Amino acid sequence: MWPFSSKTSLFESGVYHGFTDCHCHLLPGVDDGVQKMGDTLKILLAYEQAGFEEVWFTPHIMEDIPNTTDSLRQRFREVQSAYKGVLRLHLAAEYMLDNLFEERLEADDVLPLGTDGRHLLVETSYFNPPVRLQGVLSRIRQKGYHPVLAHPERYNYMTDKYYDQLKEMGVFFQMNLISLAGAYGEVPQKKALKLLKAGYIDYLGTDTHRHRVFNFASSEKAFKSSVAGLLRQVPNRL
Ligand SMILES: [Fe+2]
Repeated sequence: MWPFSSKTSLFESGVYHGFTDCHCHLLPGVDDGVQKMGDTLKILLAYEQAGFEEVWFTPHIMEDIPNTTDSLRQRFREVQSAYKGVLRLHLAAEYMLDNLFEERLEADDVLPLGTDGRHLLVETSYFNPPVRLQGVLSRIRQKGYHPVLAHPERYNYMTDKYYDQLKEMGVFFQMNLISLAGAYGEVPQKKALKLLKAGYIDYLGTDTHRHRVFNFASSEKAFKSSVAGLLRQVPNRL
């Protein structure tokens, strides 16, 4: 228990009960996330124990990590064979908005997020906006997909006005829960809270890369208990 009842942790808040993780790097050995199948299985067990029900694996695809759709599907099948638990597992990807993404989009060679197959999880540099952000977002829509921006609270260059404009353009926002718990420092934490209070958050994820970080951020980091009520209002349905 926290010494003051006005504070809670992610584990204690109840947010993980029946939770769908819309963003994580648990596909082993394909990006900067989990490297070994055994570690993937350990984290999935920890997810089960925390109350999770569904997990979307979202490995990076970017010019620096040019995973192919086929290779990720193959690796995902290996996880499905090795995993014997009760979580529902799905494969999508987290796309950096770079030239490789534009090529893949034009070729309809993408791994969408969501059972309707019509959402794409995208990210940008933390420091600079992509040169043609508006054009790329429009192209995503023209191709019949809904853009979901991964962890909007983490981009240094995004101002309140920038968030407003993205929402006006119909961009969905996916917040990292550990941002809210302060795992990336004060600025992303404050931005996460502000976006949550504004009703701007559509999806929630852990962005888990390591078991240790997930566990620490979920158990040792505290946030206001009243915020847990706001989390329950996030649709988070895919
Ligand atoms: Fe990620």
